Amino acid sequence: MTPLSPSAMPLLELSGVEVRYPVGRDWLGRGKGQAHALNGIDLRLFPGETLGVLGESGCGKSTLAQVLMGLVEPVSGSLQGTARGERNIQIVFQDPQSSLDPRLPVWKLITEPLVVRGRRSTAELRAVAERLARQVGIRPEYLDRYPHQFSGGQRQRIAIARALSSDPDIIILDEPTSALDISVQAQILNLLAQLQRERGLTFVLISHNVSVVRHLADRVAVMYLGQIVELGAAAEVLEQPSHPYTRLLLEAVPRLDQPLTGDAAAQRTELPGNRVLPSGCFFRDRCPQASAGCERPQALLPATRVAVRCHRAAGLVSPLLMNAAQA
Ligand SMILES: Nc1ncnc2c1ncn2[C@@H]1O[C@H](COP(=O)(O)OP(=O)(O)O)[C@@H](O)[C@H]1O
Ligand code: SF4
Ligand SMILES: [Mg+2]
Repeated sequence: MTPLSPSAMPLLELSGVEVRYPVGRDWLGRGKGQAHALNGIDLRLFPGETLGVLGESGCGKSTLAQVLMGLVEPVSGSLQGTARGERNIQIVFQDPQSSLDPRLPVWKLITEPLVVRGRRSTAELRAVAERLARQVGIRPEYLDRYPHQFSGGQRQRIAIARALSSDPDIIILDEPTSALDISVQAQILNLLAQLQRERGLTFVLISHNVSVVRHLADRVAVMYLGQIVELGAAAEVLEQPSHPYTRLLLEAVPRLDQPLTGDAAAQRTELPGNRVLPSGCFFRDRCPQASAGCERPQALLPATRVAVRCHRAAGLVSPLLMNAAQA
């Protein structure tokens, strides 16, 4: 956990980023429609922080990761700080089973990002792989083994070593523990926290799981239908949520990562489709507080110490918080 200095320069800055994917084809192969995956993302990433990105499946989290990696081109908006060579950004995916090439031994998997950046001798690469293996808790004797010879948690440790090998500024963690047993999840999150402290890394931690985000994040961005609806310090957003969607999300998910039951499950309704964007506030159809003022599009506006995409946010922030913000 790194307290943010107000004067820090952002490493990355996104403004008004929009991404569309073509979906469906007619018999001539012409695109029939598009998925509106990101709909105006404004976001800064500061050195040394963990920015949690929280939201239900399909809200655009992985697309945001792809934009940060420079793998998906926005149709509009700008992205600063990711020009080729300007920053080294690495990514760890949800499923190490499919992200690690099964034909390569572990030492090669770990050092591949280094090789991409310039030639090195085998002895040098093996030395790097050994050092990193120790750091992430993989026995160096196992470096000649292949991914299938490891457990899911160990494979994720290998994926983390691989992300670290080229000494990146930023690591994007896209659902890094979602494919793992609960007992292993905490070990991986603790390893990530330790590596961040030791190396001064900046993390973007993407998850649909509130407890995972709570475990590591300094700031949290809550996403809904390709927009950020609430953004601020993790303690504020997760303990005193201001946006009606954040409140629903936190009520629906038990604090401990247990399956949803009863009322909590009933509150989970389907996300609206993103082929045609809703008019007005995107959350209007599901919002318990919707009223006439919600018919116009909502902007992400600063309300005390968080930014909230809801015109009622000022009224939702408790007087206690207002005082804390003025202090
Ligand atoms: N390659 C793609 N082609 C078409 N649609 C896509 C593609 N990737 C994502 N989408 C759509 O974009 C939206 C956001 O997806 P994604 O970024 O994967 O969300 P998340 O990671 O939050 O689950 C979804 O509607 C998804 O179906
Ligand atoms: S603008 Fe209206 S519909 Fe949207 S979140 Fe706020 S109260 Fe709900
Ligand atoms: Mg995803």
